[in-house]
Amino acid sequence: MTDTARHDTARHDGDSWDLASSVGATATAVAASRAVASKGPDPLLADPWAEPLVRAVGVEHFIALIDGDVLQATDADSGFSHRTVTEQITVRTRFFDDFFVNAARDGVRQAVILASGLDTRAYRLPWPAGTTVYEIDQPEVIEFKTRTLADLGAEPTAERSTVAIDLREDWPAALRAAGLDPSAPTAWIAEGLLVYLPPEAQDRLFDEITALSAPGSRLATEHMDMTGLPDDWAEQLTERSRRLGSQINLAELFYLGERHGAADYLEGKGWRTDILTGRDAFARNGFDQPTDELESLGANSGYLTATLD
Ligand SMILES: C[S@@+](CC[C@H](N)C(=O)[O-])C[C@H]1O[C@@H](n2cnc3c(N)ncnc32)[C@H](O)[C@@H]1O
Repeated sequence: MTDTARHDTARHDGDSWDLASSVGATATAVAASRAVASKGPDPLLADPWAEPLVRAVGVEHFIALIDGDVLQATDADSGFSHRTVTEQITVRTRFFDDFFVNAARDGVRQAVILASGLDTRAYRLPWPAGTTVYEIDQPEVIEFKTRTLADLGAEPTAERSTVAIDLREDWPAALRAAGLDPSAPTAWIAEGLLVYLPPEAQDRLFDEITALSAPGSRLATEHMDMTGLPDDWAEQLTERSRRLGSQINLAELFYLGERHGAADYLEGKGWRTDILTGRDAFARNGFDQPTDELESLGANSGYLTATLD
């Protein structure tokens, strides 16, 4: 077991990681939150694989979080307490779950999880027969999850096809080689990914998704509204997660600075977009939107769904 997620230097082209280091540790962090939300007598989520996956990664802090050994933040910090984090991951997980379930209901039989991390949707969603779920992430991340879930006896609930590649490389060729049919519609998700890509890599990602998407394809991702956020929002976010025991320096892992808004960019590529604000997403789940100085990160930002006619 390692004490903490390992510390790493700043981002650079071609950097790589496992699930205990750099950007990889953020995948373990969100899986730990899903594990917490899936525990207890009245769980908010049903992700049975999150906890064993996080334990297998072996970072002490995330295990302590699941075991309830990390001090609960006080009400004074309720804008970013453990309860809020759990509700936040619940809202987010349900949004992307619903997106895939609705796409499958409407006949889409190809799903792509970009930056799949420790996402277990290929093992827990009720995919219709004939669906293939493609998962793309860095090689060590893909290999670890595949091996650990196999050791746990987990069975995918769809055909699962993995693409072990960096999303800054030629992933479209790898995805096609893995079986994606660009003449059939695809449902794509990019959950917790965009801010970890340089701005031009985000644009390229959307260009490449568009090129691979037949009419009827859909895409879901986060919507970031930066207006009203302080310049040092990433440092503030990092500082807050530190108060909750996290060792991850988000400000070092994010690519900050100007980038195209995902909705505007996708509209320019012919997609129809729809935004669900964080405020509405929380309300839809019966939770109160957190309120504090970084509220606008959650309230005006939210979730984006795009459709190609
Ligand atoms: C915050 S985690 C989100 C994981 C997963 N989507 C979820 O929500 O549980 C960020 C993920 O993005 C992946 N990622 C970030 N940049 C990437 C890149 N350039 N190529 C491949 N994967 C990348 C990381 O490996 C990690 O799994």
